[in-house]
Amino acid sequence: MLPTIDWQDDTIVMVDQRKLPGQEIYVRCRSAQEVAKAIRTMVIRGAPAIGVASAMGIALGMRRSTAKGTKQYAVEFQRICDLMAATRPTAVNLFWAIDRMKRAFAEGAQAGQSTEELTARLGREARAIHDEDVASCRAMGGFGATLVPDGARVLTHCNAGALATAGYGSALGVIRAAVEQGKRIAVFADETRPFLQGARLTAWELVRDGIDTTVITESMAGPLMRAGEIDLVVVGADRIAANGDTANKIGTYTVAVLAREHKIPFYVVAPLSTLDLATPDGEHIPIEERDRREISHLGASQLTPVGARIRNPAFDITPHRYIAGIITERGIFRAPFADSLKQAFDASAAPAR
Ligand code: MRU
Repeated sequence: MLPTIDWQDDTIVMVDQRKLPGQEIYVRCRSAQEVAKAIRTMVIRGAPAIGVASAMGIALGMRRSTAKGTKQYAVEFQRICDLMAATRPTAVNLFWAIDRMKRAFAEGAQAGQSTEELTARLGREARAIHDEDVASCRAMGGFGATLVPDGARVLTHCNAGALATAGYGSALGVIRAAVEQGKRIAVFADETRPFLQGARLTAWELVRDGIDTTVITESMAGPLMRAGEIDLVVVGADRIAANGDTANKIGTYTVAVLAREHKIPFYVVAPLSTLDLATPDGEHIPIEERDRREISHLGASQLTPVGARIRNPAFDITPHRYIAGIITERGIFRAPFADSLKQAFDASAAPAR
């Protein structure tokens, strides 16, 4: 399995996703500040992966704490949670993971645990978040693969793979599971400007797994669909609002509209940690605006003339009406999403198909 993130002794190790596929370099974070920087600068990226990283960063930060007494310890814990929350605004998994760590802390504190015991509890919680994410990806893969026919040609956008999760992947997990079932699958990976998650990361993962992969620029998706060369679309998500509106990497909305025009099913694959029922619709999802340099430059070379204004919203919203189904670890949920997504949280609900 791909080594997205790992905790080794007093260090959190991540493969540097900015350097792939040219170089496989590992970044070693020794403090919460270093983990926060790794999230902000996209050493690690992808909604579930940054949730895991923030949880591990909090646990690591508290392990390194020199606070005297529980009061000071609690102040430091809150400061580190705030640091993680300020890294990236769109992926709700980050805030979900921080909330889980806060709950674990509160339960321990209420039980009168010492700072040493609280530190151990936070470490266990971070590892649980990691392991549960891998299990969720496997479950989503199993459900999603039922929607992928033998011989399917599947388009995906950005990277919703092992690198974007604790392992196996959400959208790419569906593809992996279909391949493991013996189906012949061909994948079209949108390049995904400007960070090139599709061209660099999705293609790298799939080629490593021996899966038939073709990289295209996103502007090629429409003509390929029109030519009948795409059978279905699977993408990940950074935040899904209560009505099913979905934030994902910029360009996803365009793919969804194209898919509708060509009568191609468009599926979103995301764990429950990506569902944000407190946000009513896509209008209320905060969209990260990233550094203009990601657009104006390629490495050290400037592509755009000095004086040209640049916009760089990193995500867009796909309205729920374009989504054929949302694949979670609890099954496949369909419209009306305002009802079905609520059921997803009902532990007693039988997995939907
Ligand atoms: O800016 P990124 O690379 O963090 O954006 C990632 C995406 O948009 C992914 O598609 C999404 O997080 C789903 S990952 C399973």
